[in-house]
Amino acid sequence: MKKWLILGSLAAVVAGAVSFTTVPPVNTKAALGEKLFNEKILSKDSSVSCASCHIPSMGFADSTAFSIGIGETPTTRNTPSVLNMKHRPYFFWDGRAASLEQQALMPIANKDEMGLPVAEAVQRLRANKTYRNLFLKIFGSLPTAKNLSAALAAYEKTLETDDSKFDLSFDEEFPLTDSEERGRLLFVGDKAKCFDCHMGPDFTNDDFKNIGLYNGTTLNDAGRFKITGKKEDLGKFKTPGLRNVAITAPYMHNGMFKTLEEVVDYYNNPRAVVKDPVNIDESLREPLELTADERTDLINFLKTLTDKRFNKNPY
Ligand code: HEC
Ligand code: HEC
Repeated sequence: MKKWLILGSLAAVVAGAVSFTTVPPVNTKAALGEKLFNEKILSKDSSVSCASCHIPSMGFADSTAFSIGIGETPTTRNTPSVLNMKHRPYFFWDGRAASLEQQALMPIANKDEMGLPVAEAVQRLRANKTYRNLFLKIFGSLPTAKNLSAALAAYEKTLETDDSKFDLSFDEEFPLTDSEERGRLLFVGDKAKCFDCHMGPDFTNDDFKNIGLYNGTTLNDAGRFKITGKKEDLGKFKTPGLRNVAITAPYMHNGMFKTLEEVVDYYNNPRAVVKDPVNIDESLREPLELTADERTDLINFLKTLTDKRFNKNPY
């Protein structure tokens, strides 16, 4: 069960039951999806799988600001975690995909990621005896673009992390430390205001916000604006969930912060880092004035959100 905190109080709301099965043997859509997630033949030169960038031991993110796909070209944005995607209404930093099924085929075809036309990916799976049999067994049909994306999405939907120290702390037998608890209260309180955007069971409002990482020149990824063309969306990015954030460094759409310390220092006074941010969210216009101890407490709270159950890669 995934629980979450309501503004400052200890109240827990049960947000949904989570169940999952893992491989091997491969006899469910999700298990087939896991195998495909780790399958390098889905890239043009068979050198890269989804898991090459979404690395299980790193919370299904990557350890570099930009990942390298086929060839030498780096991605233009930081690789986000694919944990806790099941309840998200949008995917990618700018929200350009509306479902995991739609999203799943995009990195395969993307010339800088896996660089393989989807039709060709399907042909390769059909030509492979193991996959032909698995798709026939599980979907009752040969591989198609549709069931390929369905399998990948089914796997991703199993990657729900609800067994962190934070989750356990709802049981009074496993309380947070004093520092973690002070950090939690800061997180949901009016001083740090994190919960304004990082709310709900996965610590995201599923909305697009501008935290000041756009000034048109040195920081020139226009984010959500690229999709909507609306001026008010300039510099807005999808609020990322914060579960497992302690193991998904570096941070932000451009990977510009290497540590949680740098992230919290940034929020404390954005303008000390970015001159003239365009369109920065109202809640971040004044420095937060968090003390050094408060910043430490906040980070200690963020570290309670880690659940490493999915960190091992069986393939
Ligand atoms: C070369 C590295 C790379 C590979 C390979 C890759 N991804 Fe990604 N993935 C990224 C990057 C970078 C982004 C963010 C791009 C953006 O927002 O514009 C991303 C975004 C995503 C997201 C959206 C997450 C969110 O928070 O919205 C999902 C889901 C995802 N990838 C799944 C996959 C799947 C499934 C595969 C394999 C079919 C895959 N990725 C292959 C780098 C990669
Ligand atoms: C106005 C909404 C808003 C507020 C308030 C806010 N955040 Fe964020 N947060 C975001 C958005 C949007 C991003 C992604 C920004 C980007 O990449 O350009 C983000 C990114 C992050 C990241 C990086 C996650 C990753 O995977 O890269 C961390 C950590 C984080 N926020 C923690 C916090 C903390 C701690 C606070 C309180 C001090 C806070 N946030 C307050 C919206 C907000």
